[in-house]
Amino acid sequence: MAAEHCSPRTSGARRRHPFLSFTLMAALLSFVCAGPAVVLAEGGTIVFHVANRCPFPVWPASAPNTGHPVLAGGGFLVPPGKSRRVAAPATWNGRFWARTGCNFTSNGGAAGAGCLTGDCEGRLACNGSVGTPPATLVEVSLHEDPTKGSSYDVSLVDGYNLPVSVVSSKSDEGRCDIAGCAKDVNAACPPELQVVATTGGGGSKAKAEVVACKSACLAFGLDAFCCRGAYATPDACRGSVYSRMFKDACPAYYSYAYDTTAATASGCAAQEYVITFCPNRWGGDQQQLDAGHGAAQI
Ligand SMILES: *[C@@H]1O[C@H](CO)[C@@H](O)[C@H](O)[C@H]1NC(C)=O
Ligand SMILES: *[C@@H]1O[C@H](CO)[C@@H](O)[C@H](O)[C@H]1NC(C)=O
Repeated sequence: MAAEHCSPRTSGARRRHPFLSFTLMAALLSFVCAGPAVVLAEGGTIVFHVANRCPFPVWPASAPNTGHPVLAGGGFLVPPGKSRRVAAPATWNGRFWARTGCNFTSNGGAAGAGCLTGDCEGRLACNGSVGTPPATLVEVSLHEDPTKGSSYDVSLVDGYNLPVSVVSSKSDEGRCDIAGCAKDVNAACPPELQVVATTGGGGSKAKAEVVACKSACLAFGLDAFCCRGAYATPDACRGSVYSRMFKDACPAYYSYAYDTTAATASGCAAQEYVITFCPNRWGGDQQQLDAGHGAAQI
């Protein structure tokens, strides 16, 4: 896999920590504004093509880190087979994820419970709010300086809802490609980590399904799983039977906070990136640059 050529970043685990406590805090408070009141960025210099190859609609969302603007209202619908272009300032920092099973009113408010996974207060446009975990997170740090380049990774530190790939539009940047998953984590998810919801509406198609899989840290909140307290070093926090389940399904992603085997794309200088949910239906290691460019834009 191309992403394995990325040099491991020793600061990577340390960098995960603020994020980890932040999302846990977000879970406790049910919502947190991830950024201050900054007006929408249009005409930025980096473009993300957010593509949906899942056989169902997804509602991708993004939340900026503090001091960075909200992109594209923070959330939108992408029907199966479609993609949406999202422009970002060349120095943007934040995250992308996808919401599933959403039910919004015509004005973008909550109908019923909002989304089954990744929900942000039941709103279509998250407007800077982070989603409710568990949801697969694409963590992005753009750099204007091309000699530094941009970096990004995919994190299951709080858990998983969908597979995602991130691919650079520069053909010479294979090390900037992060592959999807080899297996559907929701199918492999042990009962104690499962998020089960009724899908298919209220009619005869309704069924209980595993829609997401919590990380052990999110499910149990123990220092040993969350790499906190006595476990706050890479040596002390070496993963668990649970993180190995995530790793087995999605080798390129962070499976726990101090995962040193994850693919971090760094020094990436492309102007365009393709973020594809369900890159190969349920993953697979095939790189799918076509996914975004080939899909009809909405
Ligand atoms: C979006 O968030 C900003 C900053 O918190 C706030 O001023 C604005 O009213 C929000 N917009 C909507 C539509 O909620
Ligand atoms: C969406 O929410 C409305 C209002 O709660 C409910 O009547 C409807 O059945 C929901 N639709 C689906 C597909 O869940």
